[in-house]
Amino acid sequence: MKTIVISGGTDGMGKALAMEYLGRGDTVVVLGRDAAKGAVFGEAGRATFIQTDLGLIARNREVVERITTTFPVVDALVLCARHFRSTRAETAEGIESTFALEYLSRYLLSHGLADALGRAERPVVVNVSGPGVTKPEIRWHDLSLTRGYDGVTAQMQAGRANDLLGVAFAAEHAASGISTVLLNPGGVSTSFSGEYDAATAAHVEALKRYGKPVEEGIVPIIARIDDPPAEPLSAFVEGRRIAVTGPGFEPAAANRLAEVTRRLLADERRRRGSHG
Ligand SMILES: NC(=O)c1ccc[n+]([C@@H]2O[C@H](COP(=O)([O-])OP(=O)(O)OC[C@H]3O[C@@H](n4cnc5c(N)ncnc54)[C@H](OP(=O)(O)O)[C@@H]3O)[C@@H](O)[C@H]2O)c1
Repeated sequence: MKTIVISGGTDGMGKALAMEYLGRGDTVVVLGRDAAKGAVFGEAGRATFIQTDLGLIARNREVVERITTTFPVVDALVLCARHFRSTRAETAEGIESTFALEYLSRYLLSHGLADALGRAERPVVVNVSGPGVTKPEIRWHDLSLTRGYDGVTAQMQAGRANDLLGVAFAAEHAASGISTVLLNPGGVSTSFSGEYDAATAAHVEALKRYGKPVEEGIVPIIARIDDPPAEPLSAFVEGRRIAVTGPGFEPAAANRLAEVTRRLLADERRRRGSHG
């Protein structure tokens, strides 16, 4: 029996994956912000629901603490939480919301659970995102997109950051046998969590109409959880492998982002310390 942690497990593909593995008798830890949606897991097999706002660094740290205290071994971490915003917003910690939820949370959960993953027989991190996209450039001097924000740019930057997270994480944890998988499931009809302007809302409605059903969308994710690739880092568009070298996967950029992230997290810890 496996232990699987799923971020954004209260809707869309995350929820469907949670139900799939609970149905198999595995232990599933679901991370989500909505207690009412989380209540469904109270009746479902070996489920633990943790209500949390993954957009906040402090909450991610608490989640890691709670999981590692209760579950010394984690077989799979599946990263699904997302929330689109047509209008720029900052978290209570002063970080642009998309960057915080869709990149920083994934960084904190991956690194925070690395030791527990390293104890599993065939550990895997599946980062459900959009690997291999090379534009737009990461805004190194304005990661929080204070100038010229739009929701799509924020999502694309977070996607690019997740590719670089994969490169740096895989290099750092190669010895512990963790298989890091970046996976684009293709167009899937999910809840598309977000706050949309009218034009984007119309586009999202079309995506919901034409996307494949969730049960189909999770098939390539299940395949990677059940049989993690042997390589430390791999990437897939649906079931098709794509290269993890070249533009978008540069180790120098990955190291740069890792360094910037460590600094940002250290600053936040200092700020919290100085406020008691
Ligand atoms: N659907 C697609 O066509 C598609 C295509 C390519 C890539 N992807 C990627 O696949 C992954 C899963 O997508 P999906 O479409 O299945 O997702 P979804 O239906 O939009 O669900 C997103 C999940 O994230 C949760 N969430 C949002 N904000 C949160 C917060 N602050 N703290 C904790 N949880 C939060 C949501 O909670 P609530 O239940 O409270 O809303 C929900 O459980 C995402 O990374 C997405 O970028 C999706």
